[in-house]
This record gives sequence, C-alpha cells and structure tokens, in this order.
Amino acid sequence: MPAIDRAGQESLIKLPPPRLERDGTLMQALRSRGSTREFAPRSLPRELLGTLLWAAFGVNRPATHGRTAPSAHNWQEIEVYAALAEGVYRYDAAAHALRLAVAADLRPLTGVQDFIGDAPLNLVYVADFSRMSDASAEERTFLAAADAGGIAQNVYLLCASAGLGCVVRGLIDRQKLAPAMGLRRDQRIVLAQTVGFPAG
Ligand SMILES: Cc1cc2nc3c(=O)[nH]c(=O)nc-3n(C[C@H](O)[C@H](O)[C@H](O)COP(=O)(O)O)c2cc1C
Repeated sequence: MPAIDRAGQESLIKLPPPRLERDGTLMQALRSRGSTREFAPRSLPRELLGTLLWAAFGVNRPATHGRTAPSAHNWQEIEVYAALAEGVYRYDAAAHALRLAVAADLRPLTGVQDFIGDAPLNLVYVADFSRMSDASAEERTFLAAADAGGIAQNVYLLCASAGLGCVVRGLIDRQKLAPAMGLRRDQRIVLAQTVGFPAG
C-alpha cells in the first residue's frame, strides 16, 4: 500500500528498480542528444521515472554509496527534486524513492518559459551548501554548478536513449521558487531540467 498524506498525495513513492539493460549504445545516445522544448502532456510511466532518476544521480556502487554522477569532494550536495503534477518530490537515492516535499503542482513555477507547465516532469537541482564544508562561498557556487551539470548530462543521455526529450534550464525565478519549495537559506537552486515525451 502506498503511504498517503492528509491531502491525499502519496507521501512516499517507491520507484521500480532501474532498467539497466536498455537498448542503444552510449555512442548512439551521444549522437542524438539535444534540447527539446515541445512536449506532449503524457505522464512518464513509473518504470521510466525510476530509470531516469537513477541515471540522474542514483546509487550505482552501493558498497561505497557511489553515485552515477561525480561530485566535488564527493559531497553529493545536489538534491534532485521532481516537480510532477501531483506534487514536488525529493529523490532519496539511497532508498530509490520519492519523498513528498510539497503537495502542490509547482511545475509552472520551475521556470519562465511556456512549455514548462505542459511537460510531465521538471527536475530541480538544489545544492545543499551545508554539506560543502570548508569551501568559500565562491567555491560552493562554482562547484555546485559543475556538479549539477554532470547530473543534467546524465539525464540528457538517458532521454536520448529512451525516446524522451529534455532541456536543462538556468532561467528560473529562484526568489519565487525557493520559498514555494520550502527551501532553507543554505539550499540553493542551481538548475532545472524539463523532461517528457516530445510533442508530435
Ligand atoms: C547551464 C545551462 C543553462 C541553460 N538554460 C536554458 C534555459 O533557461 N532555457 C532553455 O530553453 N534552454 C537552456 N539551456 C539549453 C541551451 O540553450 C542548449 O543546450 C543550447 O542551445 C544548445 O542546444 P542543444 O542542447 O540542443 O545542443 C541551458 C543550457 C545550459 C548548459
């Protein structure tokens, strides 16, 4: 039975394990990677969502809690949030599950472009500066941006191999989105990435 909160939302979504035996090669994905800005409203099947989030920043070496994207000092400071129609969820990589953060459809708030609200999924990459110990403010900003970029590229490649479209986005009204997501002051929105089936 799924866990349901008072608003009727699933508070914890256990994701299906990633499908690791996908069709297509890395070289084919690199050949077709590109940005898409027109999406069909069709939602993503859970199996695909699980595979996508695992590819983004999942645990690929459980013995060392290693992740699919590198991070400076192995801080693993980027939290991946999934803004879906049913709410905003934080990806818990260790549990390979989504945890409800906000029981509201915040997709349109994750950016300023028209296509964002039509797409089924907008990922939001949030740096937890409290994990970046001993780094200056400037280093935190640079390194968190670099770490988010690695995750975004994982998503691009998974999308290219799975017939999905995506676009990474820096155009975000962070002043609006951060309070709507209930973020602390030391949690910074770095990038967002819209994902869905291409229109047409
Ligand atoms: C850091 C970063 C921020 C970006 N921000 C946006 C954005 O806010 N909106 C958008 O539509 N595309 C954005 N893009 C996508 C670029 O416009 C796109 O990658 C570029 O035009 C090259 O196209 P391609 O990805 O199809 O090769 C961003 C890309 C990067 C790397």
